[in-house]
Amino acid sequence: MKGIIVYKGKYGATRQYATWIGEALNWPLFTPEQLLNQTLDDADVVIVGGSVYAGQLTLHDWLKKHAHQLLRKKVFLFIVCATPADKKDVLEQIAKHNIPALLQDLVTVFYFRGRLVINDLSWLHKLMLKLASRTTNDADEKERMVHGFDAMNKDNILPLLQLVNDVQTSSFNKVAGRKMWAD
Ligand SMILES: Cc1cc2nc3c(=O)[nH]c(=O)nc-3n(C[C@H](O)[C@H](O)[C@H](O)COP(=O)(O)O)c2cc1C
Repeated sequence: MKGIIVYKGKYGATRQYATWIGEALNWPLFTPEQLLNQTLDDADVVIVGGSVYAGQLTLHDWLKKHAHQLLRKKVFLFIVCATPADKKDVLEQIAKHNIPALLQDLVTVFYFRGRLVINDLSWLHKLMLKLASRTTNDADEKERMVHGFDAMNKDNILPLLQLVNDVQTSSFNKVAGRKMWAD
């Protein structure tokens, strides 16, 4: 079973999660620009990772473009963002808005909290956060938008790794079972 990781972020949080996952599974990592169509075609399992900017996933367009190719594969999507796990409805909206209709029921989604270092941001992103911080009524969200946050944690990837291992084991058992019958 061949597995690959495709990721796209802006300031390093998504890349860090993709790197941790790649190291744990020993799978190769690609940005969309690096990924050859043939490599995607040859993969059985694809882990896709992107971060969220104003509700939009960095890989929104890539998912749409490759929806038909992904249809025939096992796809895991990890979404890196600021929204905490207890805001389930907000997170589900992000997934619904960014996963193409064709893949909605087929993709297994994980949410990882990322990191925001205000000083590292482009002027446009600083401005976007400044304006958004004036309109939110959520005090925690305002605090994150003004001062940033860091919720990077390697343990966040464990449930994803567990599920990928389950898929690998079950596909191995299927092959082993088929072989037994053939013998
Ligand atoms: C301008 C801006 C807009 C953002 N919009 C959202 C958002 O709509 N929802 C959210 O949960 N996080 C939002 N975030 C937080 C990022 O998704 C988070 O910082 C993430 O870790 C960035 O990952 P990256 O460095 O891999 O791009 C935003 C951050 C910035 C700078």
